[in-house]
Amino acid sequence: MTEKQRTLLFIKPDGVMRGLIGEIIQRVERKGLIITAIKLVKFDRQKAEEFYAVHKGKPFFEALVEHVTSGPILAMVAEGPEAVMVVRKLIGKTSPFEAEPGTIRGDFGINVTKNIVHASDSVENAEREIKFFFKEDEILSYEKPTEKKFAV
Ligand code: RTP
Ligand code: MG
Repeated sequence: MTEKQRTLLFIKPDGVMRGLIGEIIQRVERKGLIITAIKLVKFDRQKAEEFYAVHKGKPFFEALVEHVTSGPILAMVAEGPEAVMVVRKLIGKTSPFEAEPGTIRGDFGINVTKNIVHASDSVENAEREIKFFFKEDEILSYEKPTEKKFAV
């Protein structure tokens, strides 16, 4: 049985600056997920450090915080069957050198810090990360007509 899930995806400043917003949204939509919330935001240092607290102390932490606070990010909630795993597969491996062609990082990235996107890696983290960016009343609930059971 598949489980309907929601996940948090954001386009990092390098993705926004390179004009990849449309491309990335298109891939999420084309896969069949629905976007239930979306917002252009800027991380301040405190928020970024809090968001990435799990990586504090790691050698790449400073570069990561520096990058995600360098410009706007586009945060969104994507919903659909097994959405957490599906979006992780769409984005590809962390290092764009290793990410397969056909994935977002594999097709557009060549730098592990500037790897274009972030996506939640578990259902639990998705719920925590969604709350980071969105109030519950900013997240819509709807179904695409094509996915209704008795669609004509
Ligand atoms: P994300 O959280 O951004 O979706 O990426 P991820 O799960 O694939 O990777 P994670 O291990 O959570 O690392 C978070 C972000 O830190 C940067 N990073 N740099 N230089 C390095 O070795 C290194 N390792 C990780 C990446 O930007 C990664 O997305
Ligand atoms: Mg991660």
